[in-house]
Amino acid sequence: MTRLEHGAILQRTVPQHRVCGLWTFQETECGPRKLDGERTSEVSTPKGSTVDNSGRSGKPIRLNAFVQNAVTHQSSGLWRHPDDRGRRYTDLEHWVELARTIDEADFDSLFIADVLGMSDVYAGSRDAALANGVQVPQGDPMMAVSAMAAATRGLGFGITASVSYEHPFSLARRFTTLDHLTKGRVGWNVVTGYLTSAAENLGLTRLPHDERYALAEEHLEVCYKLWEGSWEDDAVVDDPERGLFTDPSKVHDIDHEGTYFTVPGAFLCEPSPQRTPTLFQAGASSSGLSFAGRHAEAVFVSGPSTGVLARNIAKLREQIEAAGRDPHSVVVYAQLTPIVAETDALAEAKYRSYLDLASREAALSLFGGWTGLDLAGVPSDQPLRYAETDAGRSALAVFTSDDPDRDWTTADIAEHLAVGGRGPVAVGGPERVADEMERWIDETGADGFNLAFAVTPGTFADVAEYVVPELRRRGRAVAPDRGPTLRERLGGTGPRLPKDHVGSTYHR
Ligand SMILES: Cc1cc2nc3c(=O)[nH]c(=O)nc-3n(C[C@H](O)[C@H](O)[C@H](O)COP(=O)(O)O)c2cc1C
Repeated sequence: MTRLEHGAILQRTVPQHRVCGLWTFQETECGPRKLDGERTSEVSTPKGSTVDNSGRSGKPIRLNAFVQNAVTHQSSGLWRHPDDRGRRYTDLEHWVELARTIDEADFDSLFIADVLGMSDVYAGSRDAALANGVQVPQGDPMMAVSAMAAATRGLGFGITASVSYEHPFSLARRFTTLDHLTKGRVGWNVVTGYLTSAAENLGLTRLPHDERYALAEEHLEVCYKLWEGSWEDDAVVDDPERGLFTDPSKVHDIDHEGTYFTVPGAFLCEPSPQRTPTLFQAGASSSGLSFAGRHAEAVFVSGPSTGVLARNIAKLREQIEAAGRDPHSVVVYAQLTPIVAETDALAEAKYRSYLDLASREAALSLFGGWTGLDLAGVPSDQPLRYAETDAGRSALAVFTSDDPDRDWTTADIAEHLAVGGRGPVAVGGPERVADEMERWIDETGADGFNLAFAVTPGTFADVAEYVVPELRRRGRAVAPDRGPTLRERLGGTGPRLPKDHVGSTYHR
């Protein structure tokens, strides 16, 4: 982005389309519902939850923090904001402080996103990504987790790893190691990897979209065999008198020979508290949804309106049911960027300061990586249409085929993504933001929010200070103690995979 463009952005006023969806600067002109889709009747409620006369389900609202081990994440450009500390991503203290803040606020988990390449689709170059700090420079998502776990009491950690670029044997060992060290607080966000640049630097070619999901199926099969099937529960004897640490008859080769992986031997690790880490997922194409239906225990969804999200969440729950599982046993987190302060006016001022520094070029660079579409040079008023690409599909669908009531132009996309990425932004004091959260939960059927940040750790600290006490006051906060492992924290009845989950069938 050039200096001149920065100047132009500094002159901008708050864009109406972003404002109307969630709060009320211009409410008389466009009303909060107008761009936000109609209230849907398709939303189903979890077993045991009640819906009162206001349509509120009353269920607790779960919170998850969405970050990356990088200078910026979803709000590229805001590394320049004086309140942002994103450049401290290389300091362990930064991560420990963040983890403590959200642990004390009873967040379910810290979700650490990851990509193994740069966004280099926009203008056919990685330059916009590098110049704007678009998820680069970055680091490995796993390294800080044991330190964060040691400093917290119950927080879970959802770590992203790609089935396309990690061998299941070594990846399974890393997750098991962390599951031991964290006493069962680890989750795996299973991704297939949408960036060509990630494949190339490993000497690979990115597989076609649906084949990546076929590979993901086999990758998980290998992991289940290692995590669930290789070591029996009582394999470790630990008996100094008999000189027997592990009973060799209770450790089994997995004999896996498939299309993508060959793993003949036994796992190296003894079973950890959860055995299989809690499984997260975020792909929402039709292959992505059916993969989630079989494997995911928590799903991250994002979309610009309640209408789009409600339809996608309903489809997801159908897929979970089709896989023979309770559709409400899977926790769905909807992406949201909360911008909160003591009063509505202070929050609005904060938001304006973010918009002033947000980079539309960075947003389009991120979008190019996600979707494989290069919007550089496309007229700003040109409406976007769905096109099948081999990158991610749902990131484009939520602005096109999933949202038939609205035409999104290139300018709209850049504006929408610049603060908070694909999800909505909620701006206001504690009450207004809590109102919005309740509305999104009740209208979409989500269970909670995957909170993206505008500035870090400020966005999360504000939620902890202002929103969580308000949710507690309304009886919509989660209980502080929800079981020691991540799986139990999310509502599971024990530390291990439930019986209706495909992974449990591999358990000996
Ligand atoms: C909230 C959210 C977070 C995601 N995080 C990552 C990530 O960290 N790394 C990654 O490679 N893909 C990530 N993705 C992309 C998805 O995992 C998936 O690969 C992508 O949406 C393409 O799959 P699809 O075509 O089935 O939608 C994320 C998607 C969403 C909605």
